[in-house]
Parts: sequence; structure tokens; C-alpha cells
Amino acid sequence: MQIRDSSRSLLFLVVLGLISPQAEARQPAYARKAMVVAQEEHAADVGLAVLRSGGNAVDAAVAVGFALAVTHPYAGNVGGGGFMLVRLADGRLAFIDFREKAPAKASHDMYRGAGGSATDSVVGWRAVGVPGTVRGFELAHKRYGHKPWLELVKPAVDLAANGFEVSYAQMDSWKYYGSLLAQFSESKRIFLKNGVYYDWHETFRQPELARTLDRIARVGASDFYEGETARLLAAAMVENGGLVSLADLHDYQAVERRPLEGDYKGYHIITAPPPSSGGVGLLQMLAMLNATGYEKAGAGSAESYHYLAEVMRRFYADRSEYLGDPDSVKNPISSLLDPAYVRNRGATIDPERATPSEQLGPGLSVNIEDTETTHYNIVDEQGNAVAVTYTLNSAYGSGVTVPGAGFLLNDEMDDFATKPGAPNKFALVQGEKNAIAPGKRPLSSMTPTMLLKGDKLFLVLGAPGGSRITTAVLQVIANIIDFGMNVQDAIDFARIHHQWKPDFLEFESGVSPDTVALFKRMGYQVEESHPRVPARVEAIEVRDGWLQGGHDGRGHMGKAIGY
Ligand code: DON
Repeated sequence: MQIRDSSRSLLFLVVLGLISPQAEARQPAYARKAMVVAQEEHAADVGLAVLRSGGNAVDAAVAVGFALAVTHPYAGNVGGGGFMLVRLADGRLAFIDFREKAPAKASHDMYRGAGGSATDSVVGWRAVGVPGTVRGFELAHKRYGHKPWLELVKPAVDLAANGFEVSYAQMDSWKYYGSLLAQFSESKRIFLKNGVYYDWHETFRQPELARTLDRIARVGASDFYEGETARLLAAAMVENGGLVSLADLHDYQAVERRPLEGDYKGYHIITAPPPSSGGVGLLQMLAMLNATGYEKAGAGSAESYHYLAEVMRRFYADRSEYLGDPDSVKNPISSLLDPAYVRNRGATIDPERATPSEQLGPGLSVNIEDTETTHYNIVDEQGNAVAVTYTLNSAYGSGVTVPGAGFLLNDEMDDFATKPGAPNKFALVQGEKNAIAPGKRPLSSMTPTMLLKGDKLFLVLGAPGGSRITTAVLQVIANIIDFGMNVQDAIDFARIHHQWKPDFLEFESGVSPDTVALFKRMGYQVEESHPRVPARVEAIEVRDGWLQGGHDGRGHMGKAIGY
């Protein structure tokens, strides 16, 4: 039952005094025991069915991940990578890193100079990093899942073989991104019906993908890395001048890392470590905000947005210099989160004026060394929680589909500093720590995160949206903790974004014109967000014994559903 749409359930909750619709614009989805929030409806239903039949949150996460690879080709994938944050009901934590890796033939300057085109790292075969998703799901399932693997992959096989009805949003998305997919004949044939395009409500079947998933279901992840699928992928790479080889696939491993942890106003935060920059950023920005009292100005005020923008600017300046794959470079995390450093850095915020990014560089005094994406959340009946963000990077990744295997490949190589000093797809300027090297993982912004209140799960959240992910997660947390919003309002509320360079304050259309006028008076360059590229935050809050699901309408697809 999707409770959000049920006015009777809503009335029941109002009568019980559990919610006050006058004060809150939009209600979350409510559930008592278990919940899935995902960015595509069929995949959310697959997760719910796994939970109802006794699977735990990790089982459901694996099943949802494979289903999204079928029903949400925009970002769901087997040809990409990502992160899974797990908190088991007994308090154990795990962070599964299945980020793509640079192929062995990749090199520092591969996208520079003659031979490389401007879009080489974003479009086509040379943009592809070694995919990690299938190994990541295998690792999560081996360590923390209960149900047989076959049962978890099977719903995706069925969705691919039998097809599903094309939604308005999917139809629209293929039209919008058609020019990317049309460049590659296999992608054009499968996703654009050879240029005819799928219509609303038409059934979309993917027989090649069904066969690939069926092999993965029966043989296991080794099919993708060492078997038939590996051979198809590697052969297509050779034929099209890509770099990913059979040896790269064979050597790929997902790894488990320790999540980063921190505290904010009585809440304990568990979040993504490198190779994501997201967790470091979230903890640093919250720590800087903590001292400011910014919330007194009120949600949506020019003043509170100003403080948010300035902590964002400061973190993104640090991000440009200090972070990279922890297996290749040292990340000065304890320096970046050191209370004295954060205090001094925060003290440079002028309460009345924007700090020009030109006058603000990365902040550590010395470089101290120490030791189109989608997000979904699941909480099961036992209280185990999972947050997954995984991606092909761009919408539909590099645009290339493996012939005979039916799946799109990522363009994650663009998350490296492909040309140091020059911005990437998300206009991020990045440094030598995130330079390309064989076998290295590119720095990410993906920020799957959980909050605890005492030792109890309070919030599970994350988002796609490239460099806007971390700032969106920050604002949703701030809206809940500092401004007292319910989880749905916290997601819906108009957001801003600043990433140091380029030096402008991006604002969503919901920010009022007089607030924008105040930004300008403070010295900001301003720019309204492009409606196609928001971060889309998905969250589950645990409050008063209820699971409350917040789903981001900016994505036009997906739902929060529970029982
Ligand atoms: O890992 C990252 O930071 C990016 N590859 C994420 C890309 C993304 O979120 C695109 N989605 N809209």
C-alpha cells in the first residue's frame, strides 16, 4: 500500500494527532515496519516484495539495484559503480565501495593533447571506467544478505524479458538525451527504437539485458567479470578503441571501508569516506555551520542561505586539492575535520558579504598528510538500514551499450581531474590527488548517509546530482534538524548550491526574487538552477515509531512505499 496517496490513512493520522497538515505542506509516506524509497516505481516494488518475503534490507538493496538497471537505464546500472552504506540493527556498520576503476591502460594525460577530443572523458568507449556494481552487490550479499542470490536477481531478469510500461518521465528522458544515445547504433536500437522512440505506456523489453542478468543470476558476479558478459564487454572495447580489458574485469574488486562518523547538535552522522568527497564535505560543512547560529534567520532567508553558501564554498575549495582514492593517495581527513581548522575557516565568513572565491583557496596551511546517478534507501522490519547511491555518471553514462549484452557503460573517467585546472562535467576543478592512474578510483561526490539519535536510527538519505549531491544532503539535514521540517518538506524546500568555482550562487526557482536581490547585494553572482540537473534527495526518517519516507519530486519518477 502506498500510504501517501491514501487520504483515509492520512485522516487517521491527523485524528491521532500524529501530524498537523496546517503546518506542513506535504506529508511523507508512512509505514510501520519497513520501507523502500527509490527513483523508479517498479524497482521500489521489487524491493518491497523482497522485504515482505523475509529478505533483509541488504537483500532488498541488491534486488532494487538490479531492477533499476532494467527500469531506470538513465542511472540504474550494471555497467557503473557506487557506494552502499549499511547499518545493521545491532549497530554494525559497513561501507561497500564498488566505485569504478581506471583501466590498466589509462594514463595521467590520456585526455590531453592531440588524439583526445573535448568530450572523450564523457562520451564514448574511452570514457568508461571498469564497472564495479555487480561485484559490489555480490560483496554486500555475501557478507550481509540472507536470501539466495538467484531470487534477488530474478525480478530484474523478468522485468527485462517481459518488459514494463514506459512512463511519461522515461519517454521524456529518452527524447531529451536522444542525441547522446543516437551516436551509438546499439544504444539507438535498444533505447530509442532506432530513432522512432518509445511512446508513453508502450512496453519496453530488453532481451539481451535479460540474458545478461540471467547469467548473473545463475553463474554469479563471476559471469560479469570472467565469463560470457566479460568476453562481450572486452571484445566491444577492442573493436571500438576502449581501454577496459578482460584483465581489468578479472582484477576488479569491491572493498569494504569504514564509514566516516561525526556529530551535529546531538545527532550522530555516519557517512561516505573517500573515494567519496561527500562525507568529508558534509561533516566539515555541518561543523562550520554549528558555530554560526545561522538558523535564527529562518529557513529560506537570505542570511541562512548565505551561511550555507559560504560553508559550501569553503569545502569545495578544499575538495579541489586534498582528496582522492584512499588506495592511491593520502587524504588529510583528520586535518580537514580538525575542530580548530574548521573554526578558523568558518571565522573567515563575513556575515554580510560573499567571499570572492578568488580570495579563498584550499585552507590547510600545509598539505598535511595523514593516514546520472540514483539513490535509494531501505529499512527492514528488524531495523537494518541501507543507503545506496550508484551511477553511470552522466545520464545514460558514456552512451555506449555493450552489443549482445544490452547494458550501458559509465563515463566515470570524467570524475578524475582529466585536465588539471580545467573543470569537469560538473564544473569541478580538481587537483593532482585525483589525477588518472591505472587501477585508481576517481573522486566522487556521492554521499549516502545515516543519522542516529542516541543509538537509534533517525534518518537514512542520499541523492544523485553530481557536485550538488553533498550540498543537497547538507540542506535536507539542516532543514530537518535546524528548521524543524518534516522529511518531505525538507526535501521539497528550495535549495541553493555553491562550489567555490565557478564563483556563483545557484538557486532553485523556489527561492524568492527578493531573496535573490539580497544575494546580489551581498556581492554574489547568481544563477538559477537548470531544472534538468537538480540533486534528487531520497530519505527515510524514523520518528514516533513510524518510518516516514520523503521522495524528491524533482526526479519525476519513483516513490516511497512501505508496510
Ligand atoms: O560520483 C560522482 O560524484 C558523480 N559521478 C555522480 C554523478 C551524478 O550524480 C549524476 N546524476 N545526476
